[in-house]
Amino acid sequence: MRPPEEFQTDRLRLRPVECSDATAIFRTYAAEAAPTRFMPFVRHRDENDSLAFAQRCEDCWTSSSAFPWAIIEKISGRFMGVIELRLSPPKADFGYILGEPFWGRGFATEAASTVVAWAIAQHGIFRVWATCHPDNAASAAVLRKVGLAHEAKLANWEGRPQLSETVGPSDCYALTRSPR
Ligand SMILES: CC(C)(COP(=O)(O)OP(=O)(O)OC[C@H]1O[C@@H](n2cnc3c(N)ncnc32)[C@H](O)[C@@H]1OP(=O)(O)O)[C@@H](O)C(=O)NCCC(=O)NCCS
Repeated sequence: MRPPEEFQTDRLRLRPVECSDATAIFRTYAAEAAPTRFMPFVRHRDENDSLAFAQRCEDCWTSSSAFPWAIIEKISGRFMGVIELRLSPPKADFGYILGEPFWGRGFATEAASTVVAWAIAQHGIFRVWATCHPDNAASAAVLRKVGLAHEAKLANWEGRPQLSETVGPSDCYALTRSPR
């Protein structure tokens, strides 16, 4: 099972993250305080960190261990962020991040709804899930808008280095369907 390399929505193009995205990743979100606040990875210190992440994304597409797309604004061609899907039948999970200048215009919802719709339509997938920090209201809103429901609070789920948290809770959201 493998998702399309490219999705087109009204305003967005999703295509695989490439090493040539490293500078855009660094400048758009990975070195910025607001977008990385709730993230489990350490904020990038220099472009080598972003290049390592971009290389990992290329490797993921090769190995099918995960499918990270760059979120590109069609009208401008601007790199806005990343959305990643991981397939582990019978379930799939996803995550996303956008640069702050692009928040609040429905872009995450547009990208996530496309990826979630593809995933839940697959034969072997019956659960699409994601987690977010309990204080991450914008992400929780996105998850609800794309059809996921709050399922559980997960204690000691992951650490958030930017919050100086060794380990902390997450809320788990999921969209499920019954086997046909
Ligand atoms: C989470 C994130 C991807 C949302 O992106 P976005 O493009 O702004 O999201 P959308 O515009 O599609 O939807 C955001 C929703 O959250 C709501 N929202 C934003 N801030 C909020 C807040 N503080 N409290 C409640 N709702 C909030 C918006 O009103 C909107 O809902 P609406 O359309 O019903 O009004 C973006 O903020 C981001 O990249 N954050 C940093 C990375 C991150 O947290 N990723 C998720 C990890 S789980």
